[in-house]
Amino acid sequence: MTTRRRSVATVLLASVAMVSAVVVFAASPAAAHTGFESSSPADGDVVDEPVSEITLTFSGEATPAGEGFVVLDPTGTIREADEITSVDQLTWILRFDEPLAGGDVGVRWMVAAPDAHPIDGSFSFTVTAPTSIDEPQLQEETAPAATEEPNDAPEVTADEQQLEEEPTESEPATTEPESVEATAAPTGSEPIDLESFVDTSDATPVAADGVAAMARILSVLGAVLAIGGAAFAAFGLRGGPADVSTVLSWVRGGGVLLVIGAVAEAVAITATLAGQWSALTSAANLGDALWSSAGLAIALRAIGGFLAASKTTSNTMTASTGGDPVIAARQLASIGGGDTAAPPPEGGAGEPFLFAEDQRWDSRAALGGLVGVGLVAVSFMFDGHIASEGPRWLHAAANLAHVTAAAIWAGGVVMLALTIHRRRRDNRSTQALQLAMRFSVIATTALVTAGVAGTALSIIVIDAASDLWSTPWGRLLIAKVAVVAVAAAGGAYNHRVIVPALNQNPDDHTTIDRFRTVVTLEAAALFAVAIITAFLIAASST
Ligand code: HEM
Repeated sequence: MTTRRRSVATVLLASVAMVSAVVVFAASPAAAHTGFESSSPADGDVVDEPVSEITLTFSGEATPAGEGFVVLDPTGTIREADEITSVDQLTWILRFDEPLAGGDVGVRWMVAAPDAHPIDGSFSFTVTAPTSIDEPQLQEETAPAATEEPNDAPEVTADEQQLEEEPTESEPATTEPESVEATAAPTGSEPIDLESFVDTSDATPVAADGVAAMARILSVLGAVLAIGGAAFAAFGLRGGPADVSTVLSWVRGGGVLLVIGAVAEAVAITATLAGQWSALTSAANLGDALWSSAGLAIALRAIGGFLAASKTTSNTMTASTGGDPVIAARQLASIGGGDTAAPPPEGGAGEPFLFAEDQRWDSRAALGGLVGVGLVAVSFMFDGHIASEGPRWLHAAANLAHVTAAAIWAGGVVMLALTIHRRRRDNRSTQALQLAMRFSVIATTALVTAGVAGTALSIIVIDAASDLWSTPWGRLLIAKVAVVAVAAAGGAYNHRVIVPALNQNPDDHTTIDRFRTVVTLEAAALFAVAIITAFLIAASST
């Protein structure tokens, strides 16, 4: 194995190891972007008054999901609240006409944040006040023995006495102890044990979190490949038709990942909200789960992914026909590495920007695919923290700018690495200078936009700077930005060192190989960023 292959392999291994470390230590199963704040009575409280109201307060908007709010009364019987109300979706009140009393009460709850991510939990408290049924008996028991009052009541003759004692036909025997039984569990149903009732560890079906995490990874990777690949084919790539169709096959591949990711996400959310996998057999459960902001995001990714996979045709046309926004950007704002003067025509002094035989993607023939890619970018505006944090329009706009720009950068780097590898493998001219100069315009614009929008998203999501190190979300964001910095350093190196060197000698194989290595390292780092992001959007920021 050549030294360069060895270093690329080492870095790929290192980034996969880094990702797994980040995922294992900093990530946690998907948490809804809300948290359980408090309840009244609180967990472990001892209350001496019968309880006719239980209040649960959440840190963010929450709606009952799956089994919702379930109460176990001291007899071990599930009690339905007679009324469940909330004025702000933060505090929920359960009202009982027949107050809870006479022992330990258990409460289990499952709610979903606007992003449909469910959370669940439980608590219990003790009510020392007797139940209304116990009360008279207790009064009897506790009532002091009646002292013999001088009885000035008229004498009751023996006959009258006997009459009183003889049971009359109509009145059943009273004060039989079993009537106390009435407080016991209704006959036929075993009283439920409080301990097993408050144990909610089985609330989320086994592996549901794993399926949800896998689904998000596929969705983010699919989005990066579909959006980034399409942008690279449209603006970054000029060369042979085979180059174009290879890049577009990755766009279609990204579409397939998005469809699989969307289906897996729908399955995971439905099973988690219903608390069991068997819920997938009913369309109603699926409908309940997907009739939400997150459901819309999943639907947009499924449709967008399908269109990107099926409608992204690889038609090409001569590259010199039509305008070239990259050249315009270079000249207008002197963005990009190397000499930004107008490129010399072919055959003129220096390296041409375009060769006569160069082809470019004819995206006009792939409108369906482009619509698909657009739907995918928009889909991220409806889930993650967007649905529950900050002014919705600003968050959504920053998110759209961020996802699109970040995917153009990350997906573009991957396609650049692939194109150079393929040309090198086929012993064709890599046209590394043209690729580097063109892509550095795209990468600079995309990175700056992604960075600004990403910073805006961070400010919207966090409540305090300390959230950056005290919440799983904050720690993941720090890890993400650190790996982004590694990738950006690679890009800066290409910008500052490789492009000027290629400008001097476009065919210098050492420089070309170094360019290929650095771009591959960048791609590996951005792959790691995509994985970390898949956990970031599901992490709890509270
Ligand atoms: C330049 C530095 C970057 C910063 C500061 C940043 C920051 C953020 C933040 C704060 C979010 C919102 C997460 C949430 O809603 O929970 C986010 C989402 C996202 N980022 Fe980045 N990011 C950066 C770079 C990247 C890169 C390079 C990629 C590409 C791999 C990327 C891909 C994404 C995606 C796909 C989302 C998901 C949006 C969603 O689900 O709503 N980001 N980023």
